[in-house]
Amino acid sequence: MTIAQTAPPSEPTPHAFGWYDSIWLRKYFDARAIIAKVAPGRLAEFEAAMAVFRTDPAYEVKTLRGYLDEARLREMRETISAIPRDSLELHEAQKFGRLVVHDWPPFTAMQAEIAAMVSELAGEALEPCYNFLSMYLKRGVCEPHLDTPQAKWTFDLCIDQGEPWPIHFTEIMPWPESREALIEDWIAVKEGRSAHRIQSVALEPGDALLFSGPSQWHWRDPIPQAKPGTRAFCDLLFFHFIPAGTAELVEPENWARLFDLPELAEILASPATA
Ligand SMILES: [Fe+2]
Repeated sequence: MTIAQTAPPSEPTPHAFGWYDSIWLRKYFDARAIIAKVAPGRLAEFEAAMAVFRTDPAYEVKTLRGYLDEARLREMRETISAIPRDSLELHEAQKFGRLVVHDWPPFTAMQAEIAAMVSELAGEALEPCYNFLSMYLKRGVCEPHLDTPQAKWTFDLCIDQGEPWPIHFTEIMPWPESREALIEDWIAVKEGRSAHRIQSVALEPGDALLFSGPSQWHWRDPIPQAKPGTRAFCDLLFFHFIPAGTAELVEPENWARLFDLPELAEILASPATA
């Protein structure tokens, strides 16, 4: 089978902390440090602008049982089966045990259709950012992480699976004031010794849930092993939404221009320090 070779790598970069999707937060901390040095009077303005990507601590994960009926599920499964093999991205096979497909047109169309409904659930006006289909196989796993704010809200939809496979969440938390505190918290969550309240949800095919990944740790343990005669797998769709009107602000490469602080261009090249 031919697999697309053009997909981006998922290896940690010098800009990341340790976990998947941590690049944005690293840049946020770097930007704060730069502004504190070159324009301390503007730090409050920067933080106020970024507050749109924080989540109300009162938000609780919402689960929608039976969001898709059998007919719609069948349709979605047919759409997935029709995806050409050479459109499957392999770059997360090693770390997550999954094949992925980003922004497949029928799913992008569906994402636009559900934006108003998801906005209602989230309690704020949203616009679609990106989506991907994740086809976990027998080595499926997703370690504790926070998402980038490009995925401030995730509508996670279960299309098909072998056995129910719970996803775990901490409560919504404020972003910590220091990168050290954040890393310490991540390690505590990974080691199962954090003080966070943990909630677990097992989706059935057709069920969906809405969570805010940049503000709550979330993970899936190794996928349940298959019973004899079955196979371990889980097909999930992830629709990511951002607050309406924040498509430019959410991209760190735009911050130097948006805040008229050329020094912020440095965050794109700054080395790891933690
Ligand atoms: Fe995530």
